[in-house]
Amino acid sequence: MSLIHAGREQVLRRVAAALSQVVHPTTGEDIVSSGRVRELNVDEDGTVRFRFNLHPEDPATLVRTARAAAEKVDGVARVAIQHSLPVAGKPAPKSPLRAGNVPAPTPDAKLLPGVKHVLAVSSGKGGVGKSTVAVNLAAALAASGLRVGVLDADIYGPNVPMMFGEHRQPRVTAAKKLEPLEAHGVKLMSLGFLLTDDQPAIMRGPMIAGILKQFLQEVEWGELDLMVVDMPPGTGDAQLSLVQTIRVDGVVMVTTPQDVATGDVLRAIKMFERVNTRVLGIVENMAGFVCPCCGERYEIFGRAGGQRLAQQTGLEFLGEIPLEVHVREGGDAGLPAVLGQPESPAGLALRAVAERVAARLEGAEARV
Ligand SMILES: Nc1ncnc2c1ncn2[C@@H]1O[C@H](COP(=O)(O)OP(=O)(O)OP(=O)(O)O)[C@@H](O)[C@H]1O
Ligand SMILES: [Mg+2]
Repeated sequence: MSLIHAGREQVLRRVAAALSQVVHPTTGEDIVSSGRVRELNVDEDGTVRFRFNLHPEDPATLVRTARAAAEKVDGVARVAIQHSLPVAGKPAPKSPLRAGNVPAPTPDAKLLPGVKHVLAVSSGKGGVGKSTVAVNLAAALAASGLRVGVLDADIYGPNVPMMFGEHRQPRVTAAKKLEPLEAHGVKLMSLGFLLTDDQPAIMRGPMIAGILKQFLQEVEWGELDLMVVDMPPGTGDAQLSLVQTIRVDGVVMVTTPQDVATGDVLRAIKMFERVNTRVLGIVENMAGFVCPCCGERYEIFGRAGGQRLAQQTGLEFLGEIPLEVHVREGGDAGLPAVLGQPESPAGLALRAVAERVAARLEGAEARV
């Protein structure tokens, strides 16, 4: 495909020139002639758009450098980048917990044909911030240009509608499929969109797997770089059947710093390892509260349990998110903290976790 489409020629030429000054830090290749920048275009309102084909050896900062270079060009109002995560990659690292594995689940390969990576956000315990982390990762990665969807697999207590501030019912297409709703640039599907507020979701394991399969087969997800699955709490049959229904490429485990939570998370990690599902790393949420009045830090849920767990399991520690009132308020109001208060300590921490997760997934083989 030609680099330059039609129209707005001058701005396009200037942006193309600016981008060809951006070079890979070790190979010295520029990002235009090496084919990383594709489908460069500019809208009437001055929005510059292009697709960035990340290579496996590229640092995650390369896209940011490209964005900064394009933003500096005269006549550019906004830069929207779509990433393509690289196809080639390293195999998942062996974890010390892999002993006693059972054969890998064999989910239906025809499910989600247009989705490159599936990431589950999980924990052994309820209320530790799985949904908060899932929603913020999705919003942060969508804001950085990835095509992202969120599947709310918490059938009992679906929170995705509230956390994205989206409460409409999905449309049914001519092909009798459900159209995902969209908020903050993220495609969404949740049982919450299909139930009325006072309707309890009382279901057993096999019914959950059935609903989930429908969410995969009968929802028009289209092309996505990443689908984030917000998992329900626990390590029972329901969680196992979820993993066996969807081919999950990586799991982010969320814990609070206290030991009881980390014990539950350890059980959950073992469950995923047993079914050969790769755990990407551990996020410690609600890690300390800094009093806005006196600046004193209080370790409400204990200290550093996530880091201890990472050491114990040999998994990567992906970061700690402090307890901040606006994170909860943003969740209730449908504006994820990474968008509402991106420069707050929690906003920065969540964005850093999102970058690390994206970088880890870059190392995983794409599904398509
Ligand atoms: N870092 C944080 N700072 C402040 N509030 C937070 C933080 N993380 C989560 N919360 C709040 O804690 C509550 C529980 O979080 P969340 O719903 O994300 O947990 P969960 O693990 O998904 O729960 P469940 O097991 O019920 O699905 C929510 O009200 C959320 O807004
Ligand atoms: Mg939740």
